Amino acid sequence: MPGLRPASHMTCNRRLLEKHGRGVGETTWAFLSLSAKREHFFNQVSLDWRLKALLQLAFSLVPRGERLNYFVQRYWTKSLPPSDSSFAATVNYAKRHIDAILRYCHWPLAQATFYEFGAGWDMTIPLAFYSLGVETQIVVDIRSLIRLPILNNTIDKYQRMAAQLGLPRIPADHLDYVRDSLVAALKRHYGIDYLAPCDARHTGLPTSSIDCISSTDTLEHIPPEDIAKILQECHRILSEDGVLSFVIDYDDHYSYFDPKISKYNFLRYSDHRWALFNPSLHYQNRLRHRDYIRLLETAGFDVLEDQHKDASDLEMNILSQLSLAKRFKSYSVRELAVHNALIVARKGAARAG
Ligand SMILES: C[S@@+](CC[C@H](N)C(=O)[O-])C[C@H]1O[C@@H](n2cnc3c(N)ncnc32)[C@H](O)[C@@H]1O
Repeated sequence: MPGLRPASHMTCNRRLLEKHGRGVGETTWAFLSLSAKREHFFNQVSLDWRLKALLQLAFSLVPRGERLNYFVQRYWTKSLPPSDSSFAATVNYAKRHIDAILRYCHWPLAQATFYEFGAGWDMTIPLAFYSLGVETQIVVDIRSLIRLPILNNTIDKYQRMAAQLGLPRIPADHLDYVRDSLVAALKRHYGIDYLAPCDARHTGLPTSSIDCISSTDTLEHIPPEDIAKILQECHRILSEDGVLSFVIDYDDHYSYFDPKISKYNFLRYSDHRWALFNPSLHYQNRLRHRDYIRLLETAGFDVLEDQHKDASDLEMNILSQLSLAKRFKSYSVRELAVHNALIVARKGAARAG
């Protein structure tokens, strides 16, 4: 796979790794996942990132822009439905969430209540959780994005790629819009309660009702002040012995569409200038790894695992030559360069949320 790096590039919290006996094999998942994701985007239409920003701005401003965005992604850029490699990468994220959760939670998955915020379009993660044995999940998104052909395409992929995915069970039933609503069908066949629009800042879910919280490639798209509120809400709804697992991608997402720019391109812009390229439908907060750790701790969580992927020397060299916006000058190059992370946390004993 292009750009494949040895697992030693994955920096983990060594103490926790030793304590929980996790092997190197698991840390390679993150790398494989992101490479596949990138490959997926590069296989689609490549676009000058400023044009992509302009399009997303237009979709963010016009009425029903989300629908337009759907049609463009489906029929022009062809990023929907995801390619097989991108799909497999997302299934690997789900496996990593579950592996991490099982290191700290000892009840059977079938008895736990899961909650994922920022569900997106295709339900790959919730269906992977189902395939791994989860029976009860609440999945929320601030926008109602699910559509029958995309969901059935995801189910097709599980069936077609069953041998390769190696999951204990495979979603057997396609969804049928005619018989009942899509939301009812997801619940009936797969135990997935899809709530949308539902804002993760205030879900209305009962206090301490959730055993496992996950989020995948979502937090980087949420403004920092909203993340603080989402984490407070997570703290409220998570049970005392519950665990959360977040996957976050810190790279400039425009670099997935425009091979001419680096993964750090967005660090060059002041907040004021970046706002021009940062429409609500393709929002990127540009927070770095250490900011998320601080946000979690401020919300009253103890970080149990911090598996993050450092940059290579070459990438750090590229970054050190960029003229950075003032906002990023207080970070070391190493801190700024981190590509992605899986962070596992639970409620701290000492701090209140
Ligand atoms: C990039 S998508 C992630 C998709 C999905 N997790 C995946 O891995 O394919 C981010 C999602 O977060 C949702 N989102 C943003 N802010 C949110 C909020 N405050 N509450 C719930 N969902 C939110 C967006 O609507 C979007 O669908």
